[in-house]
Amino acid sequence: MNFAEAIMEIKTFELSNQSGMTVTVTNVGCAIISLKVPDKNGQPRDVVLGLDKAEDYLGKHFYLGVIIGRVGNRIGYGKFTLDGKEYQLATNDGKQHLHGGVEGFDKKIWTVEESGPAKIVFSYVSPDGEENYPGRLAVRCTYTLSQDNTLRIDYFAETDTKTICNLTNHSYFNLEGYDAKDIYGHVMQINADQLTAVDEALIPTGAFAPVAGTPFDFNAPKPIGQDIEKAGAVNSTGGFDHNYVLNGKAPAASVYAPGSGVKMTVTTDMPGMQFYSGNFIDGAVTGKGVTYQKHSGFCLETQLYPDTINQPHFPSCVVTPDKPFRSFTAFKFEK
Ligand code: BGC
Repeated sequence: MNFAEAIMEIKTFELSNQSGMTVTVTNVGCAIISLKVPDKNGQPRDVVLGLDKAEDYLGKHFYLGVIIGRVGNRIGYGKFTLDGKEYQLATNDGKQHLHGGVEGFDKKIWTVEESGPAKIVFSYVSPDGEENYPGRLAVRCTYTLSQDNTLRIDYFAETDTKTICNLTNHSYFNLEGYDAKDIYGHVMQINADQLTAVDEALIPTGAFAPVAGTPFDFNAPKPIGQDIEKAGAVNSTGGFDHNYVLNGKAPAASVYAPGSGVKMTVTTDMPGMQFYSGNFIDGAVTGKGVTYQKHSGFCLETQLYPDTINQPHFPSCVVTPDKPFRSFTAFKFEK
């Protein structure tokens, strides 16, 4: 496909229900461009950061709303070994591999398999050797909107050869509205007692760090802004950028924005969740009339743990022809 043909393939879709929720998505990176839910006054409020139009997702975007893969999050030095063979992936984040490499799933134009008023199924076939990953991986990502204002994302990926896979969505939420200044006032609760401890390059050391008594403890709800500076000083991240080891209680997380009255709960079957407070957004991206800044939005990226392929005691991201990748995450909105 040449560039002109590719542009022709780019489309935007609107999912809606009878309860006042509307979600706009595109087949570029399966990006969620807007997500409107009723606020406390019954008015629609767009609660995700996004770009103006679908084509913009081919450019710089800080992964706003996209699906990331084959392997989301970091792989230390971009190296891993599978069946005795060493693979070297792109090092696109300092010396580390991040979010699938130079051209990850977020930059692909996905095929639309099925599209209805409240459901869309995207697929993408990643050829053997793409971004240096082994195996041909056929991926399906389904967005379903239900009447109770839940957006559910189902991930499925099957391979012809043993490979690795860890898919998630990278939406930045601001439940006060995408154009609100920051996320400090959001009250967050996360059902996790531990983090995967990381070094300064945000690569797990292999240890599990208890959150109790640290700025990372969200077992009791607290405003994101309360300890963000202290948390950001720990690994020089400038905020939260850590993988929580979910303790299996549902929901994994809930977040409430007092100004809009919007509450979001996150439910998943994944063992981990990266809470990222948008620390590296630096004013370089503008969308929907807003120039996004540090801490404009937060991500809750449900996933297998970062660098899990290099930590044998972490849940495995290896997929085989007999064992596809399958997971789901549901974002429910209430007021
Ligand atoms: C990571 C951040 C990274 C960001 C890029 C997040 O998932 O945790 O460290 O900078 O993605 O947008």
